Amino acid sequence: MFELPDLPYDHAALEPVISKETMHLHHDKHHKRYVDVANQILAEKGEKPASLEQVVRESAGKAETRKLFNNAAQIWNHTFFWECMTPNKGGQPTGDLAAAIDRDLGGLEKLKAEFVAKGVGHFGSGWVWLAAQNGALKIVDTHDGENLLTQPGLIPLFVCDLWEHAYYVDYRNDREGFLKAWFDALPNWELAQAQYEASKTGGEGWQHPKPV
Ligand code: FE2
Repeated sequence: MFELPDLPYDHAALEPVISKETMHLHHDKHHKRYVDVANQILAEKGEKPASLEQVVRESAGKAETRKLFNNAAQIWNHTFFWECMTPNKGGQPTGDLAAAIDRDLGGLEKLKAEFVAKGVGHFGSGWVWLAAQNGALKIVDTHDGENLLTQPGLIPLFVCDLWEHAYYVDYRNDREGFLKAWFDALPNWELAQAQYEASKTGGEGWQHPKPV
């Protein structure tokens, strides 16, 4: 079974951009619910998968495993999302990632503008990603629980949650305000750099903790 991973920081660590209340609801309730439902489905099927990545890839695109996919992918997305943020507010990309941002996206300010616009323009629930394919950067969005595990060669550098539960307590309907504040303060550029290296070298990138 999969365990709900602890947050990599205190629930209040991302304030004022994301409140302690939101983090308790988001991690302790929403994320936990995805873990509980996926574990229940796997138990009913008598399956003991080796990894969450395997569950997501094998359940994708099939009506009969849609519920398992939705919940397994949401586990992966949320655990990765927590890792994509750091309380060390205001970091910057460095080294070859910074150079790639200049080359592929026109610089950090243009990356921010495109990332925010992609997230604001996304209809309904989903995720907005900074991703790399063979070292080339792009900004993509996915619907509901969909993620990049089903898109071979596309490695996520970081992701932001567009579901209303991610921002409604703190920002009400202002998704744009949430995304701008998030981008300025919270991205974990060290993880983004490591993911970028994985993209350039054909590596897998960040992997979800294994089931117990
Ligand atoms: Fe979420």
